[in-house]
Amino acid sequence: MEVSSRYVVTKAHIDGAPKESDFELKSESISLLLDSGSNDVIVKNLFVSIDPYQLNRMKSQSSSQIYSTLAAAINPGEAIDAYGVAKVLVSGNPEFQKDDLVVGFITWGDYSVIKPGAMLRKLDPMGFPLSHHVGILGFSGLTAYVGFFEVCKPKKGEKVFVSAASGSVGNLVGQYAKLFGCYVVGSAGSTEKVQILKEKLGFDDAFNYKEESDLKATLRRYFPDGIDIYFDNVGAEMQEAAIANMNVFGRVAVCGVISEYTDSGRKATPDMIDIVYRRIKIQGFLVTDFLNVYADFISTTCDHLRAGKMHTLEDISTGVESIPSSLIGLFSGHNIGKKMVQLAYSPIDIEV
Ligand SMILES: NC(=O)c1ccc[n+]([C@@H]2O[C@H](COP(=O)([O-])OP(=O)(O)OC[C@H]3O[C@@H](n4cnc5c(N)ncnc54)[C@H](OP(=O)(O)O)[C@@H]3O)[C@@H](O)[C@H]2O)c1
Repeated sequence: MEVSSRYVVTKAHIDGAPKESDFELKSESISLLLDSGSNDVIVKNLFVSIDPYQLNRMKSQSSSQIYSTLAAAINPGEAIDAYGVAKVLVSGNPEFQKDDLVVGFITWGDYSVIKPGAMLRKLDPMGFPLSHHVGILGFSGLTAYVGFFEVCKPKKGEKVFVSAASGSVGNLVGQYAKLFGCYVVGSAGSTEKVQILKEKLGFDDAFNYKEESDLKATLRRYFPDGIDIYFDNVGAEMQEAAIANMNVFGRVAVCGVISEYTDSGRKATPDMIDIVYRRIKIQGFLVTDFLNVYADFISTTCDHLRAGKMHTLEDISTGVESIPSSLIGLFSGHNIGKKMVQLAYSPIDIEV
């Protein structure tokens, strides 16, 4: 038996802002009969993650392609791997059986053929919707958790600023920081997003950065006593403004610099003399450096979810054809919370 699988590819390297015409849908037939001795696993993709770092993989060159094996270059015309949840159809790997739910690196397509050595494990949904395992209980959640607790090393009562705060990682950083006992302000790109941060997620305050003309003055207004921790998702002017408002021994976790991904000319140029005299620590990090914290992250986050202390923000599109626009939308703030695409419609496929 064969299935027909549509998948997304890039037509060429993308060195600026992505647009629909940079992508195309291809289609292939996948045989569900494995060759004897094959260790492949063929899965039906259920939910795939849409993440800003994929754009860095699509460029003609980027640091990501050299320093992170999970963010290796994407070659035009080739299937694109991404984190997601799937259901096993056929397995030549004794670790997996037909109908197992799995989570790991699948492809931006209807089906995936997973080769031995790929990051894939059985998924116990633990009573949570499958989408949660792509977002809050997946890499976005782990990134927020390790970035805040391991990189920022917070103390109760400290003042925390989060940019792209209504996004997948940012909204969770703010929620962890509040639960830990910090004062938290977030920036986001619309009135609706600001409202969600304050009214649904319990941020102490939030502002729409698109309505502000002087970010340094804005942050001085929101943090009259200075910022102790800045969780940076955007880079450029916001990073400069945050650093200008940091307290002595402040910490900046550079999780990402999304405003610089689409424009190589945009760079943060913080005042280095501030950094010296205020003894500010700026640390970039990759979530994959902290996989040892995974068990602690899962048990803490599941407890918070079950106790109703954390909320999920998910932004789900449907169908392979919506993958390009979902990625493109990240760079103009179309998403609220974790962006992902659902690739199966039958309740049998996505029922837990
Ligand atoms: N280090 C790691 O291991 C790791 C892991 C995951 C993610 N990341 C990074 O973390 C950041 C957030 O990722 P995410 O997955 O949570 O994405 P996300 O925040 O859910 O989506 C991106 C958001 O960024 C904001 N944005 C886009 N262009 C912007 C610009 N020019 N200036 C300011 N804000 C802009 C938009 O919100 P607004 O409406 O607020 O503008 C958009 O919704 C990214 O930089 C990503 O690369 C790093």
